[in-house]
Amino acid sequence: MKSSLKITLVLLLTALLSSCAWVSKRPDPPYESLRETKPETAPVTDPETEPETAPETVPETEPETIPETEPETIPETEPETVPETEPETVPETEPETVPETEPETEPFEKPAKVPGAVITGYTSKGYPIEVKNGVTYIDGQVIANKTYSLPADYYPALDYERDGDPYPVTPETRAAFNRMCADAAKEGIRFYSVSSFRDYPTQEWLYNSYIQSHGKAQADRFSARPGHSEHETGLAIDVIDCHTVFETTKEGIWLAAHCCDYGFIIRYPKGKESVTGYMYEPWHVRYIGSPELCRAITEAGTMEEYYGFSSVYPD
Ligand code: DAL
Ligand code: ZN
Repeated sequence: MKSSLKITLVLLLTALLSSCAWVSKRPDPPYESLRETKPETAPVTDPETEPETAPETVPETEPETIPETEPETIPETEPETVPETEPETVPETEPETVPETEPETEPFEKPAKVPGAVITGYTSKGYPIEVKNGVTYIDGQVIANKTYSLPADYYPALDYERDGDPYPVTPETRAAFNRMCADAAKEGIRFYSVSSFRDYPTQEWLYNSYIQSHGKAQADRFSARPGHSEHETGLAIDVIDCHTVFETTKEGIWLAAHCCDYGFIIRYPKGKESVTGYMYEPWHVRYIGSPELCRAITEAGTMEEYYGFSSVYPD
């Protein structure tokens, strides 16, 4: 029996050992498939771990470097350069140029221009008021307005374009007007003189007729008393129709834009009645001569403002 028990035990042990070997040889595929799923989970966990580390490193370095460099460089350079250069250059140049140029270019008393004339005073801009043969000149320009009158017998040298020309002007005025008309015609603009030189008796008749039709107060706003009209100088021309609508016509627009190029000014500009003494007359040009002087007068507003004299009737 004992030997049979031994045999039985041996057999049992042998059977047990062989069963264990079978277990260790069991399927690989389940393990391989487990390994394939690992790469799938890996990318999922990678992004999760990256944000965890990224926020830690980015905020730490960025706030540290930006605040450190910016406050250091900006306040150091700006306050040093700006206050140092500005106070040094501005006070040095301005006081030097302004006092030096003003007395040289703007002397109060301007030179007299009319030989043999008597200086009766100075305008507020320092121009001598020169009188010769009863005619007033300022800067060589004949003046006829409400303050300054012409003698009743004043008769300038006139240019009549043809026999019986009802619109004579001085030769210089004629030449400039003809040049302006020729250039305007190239652009389809036609100018016609409808009034130019008027002698004292003609101005007297005209002014009195306006008193009859409009009353004295109104007539004084748009018509000069005899002896006071610029038309008596032979330097003034009324172009096209004398009506304020002229301002908005292509002729009126061209005239305002180009008359200075030919030596003319719009003598009674808009909004200057209190200065010139007359309502706006966009058709009335006055010959001055120099285009540069015309532009300077136009920029100043009126002859009265440019030269500094008045236009007010004595009574
Ligand atoms: N119409 C202008 C002012 C004159 O009569 O002279
Ligand atoms: Zn006129």
